Amino acid sequence: MKLKIAVIPGDGIGPDIVAEGIKVLGEVAKKFNHTLDFSFYLAGGVAIDSVGEPLPESTLLGCADAQAVLLGSVGGPKWDDLKGDMRPEKALLGLRGGLKLFCNLRPAILYRQLSEACPLKDHIIEGGLDLMVVRELTGGIYFGDRGRNENGTRAYDTMAYSELEVERIARKAFELAMKRKKKLMSVDKANILESSRLWRSVVNRVATEYPLVTVSHMYVDNAAMQLVRNPKQFDVIVTTNMFGDILSDEASMITGSIGMLPSASLREDSFGMYEPIHGSAPDIAGQDKANPIATILSVAMMLRHSFNLEEEAAVIETAISKVLDDGYRTLDIMSSQMHPVGTKEMGSLIAQAI
Ligand code: IPM
Ligand code: MG
Repeated sequence: MKLKIAVIPGDGIGPDIVAEGIKVLGEVAKKFNHTLDFSFYLAGGVAIDSVGEPLPESTLLGCADAQAVLLGSVGGPKWDDLKGDMRPEKALLGLRGGLKLFCNLRPAILYRQLSEACPLKDHIIEGGLDLMVVRELTGGIYFGDRGRNENGTRAYDTMAYSELEVERIARKAFELAMKRKKKLMSVDKANILESSRLWRSVVNRVATEYPLVTVSHMYVDNAAMQLVRNPKQFDVIVTTNMFGDILSDEASMITGSIGMLPSASLREDSFGMYEPIHGSAPDIAGQDKANPIATILSVAMMLRHSFNLEEEAAVIETAISKVLDDGYRTLDIMSSQMHPVGTKEMGSLIAQAI
């Protein structure tokens, strides 16, 4: 099968980790006889530096023309003083909105080999952690009306959701819950926000189509607390764009390893964009220090969701587990008695294990 993939290395450690994702993809392609067709595009700070805007149209068109997008990371202190619309982060929002990727899957899995890295007490995480945050990605306050009054002394952002926007993300979350533990937690702020009251009623309506799924609702402040008090009560969490942004960072940290967690941004067809959930870590860029595992796991998600290649995806995940079992660690997940390795060696070890 021919896999047409658009690649956006981006800023900071982006190029370092994307190179390892490509290395592993190459190995998988060899083993399973697939052909890889990569096109590389600029986005983020590197695009600002070379063409004067964070998301050149050629990037958006090139991505739209591929079957999937692999993205490293964007942003860095060099571009921090730029105005909102010119910031590297604008590239991310432009890609998400422009490609209509409304469904963001963020798995938070505590690897048994890394349980020492989890900041929670042993009895709280006993038996492991494996939850999935389903974040709405193209609506809510990220995409609402914003602005300032004439003299700039007052600013506003608006959070709005339509029934259709809630319905399609809710359906994705219920479908996923059906494949997992048939348990769905919808997180909102329905005691205050009108958009949350709409959200809750739509989720309840969609729930009638999935009688096998137990659905509950939780206010976002309580959910933030429950995630550290008793994370095992959650399996699939579905929530709005901004609440999902915040809760997914929290969920990732309770696994102790933000350098390990991938993500997929999807829509109704098989097209998707795949990226690690961590940032561009400019302080260690180009130094062979970054953990490439989140990106390599994102490649596995790509094979699974965009190309329906479940076996290939599983082979990557098993290879990562083996390399961790063998005691190899990048700096961010290093603990005593383990072998420290750099970005490139970690990528090569995983490729060899395939
Ligand atoms: C994320 C990031 C982005 C977001 C930023 C970089 C725009 O935090 O993907 O979670 O807020 O969505
Ligand atoms: Mg975030």
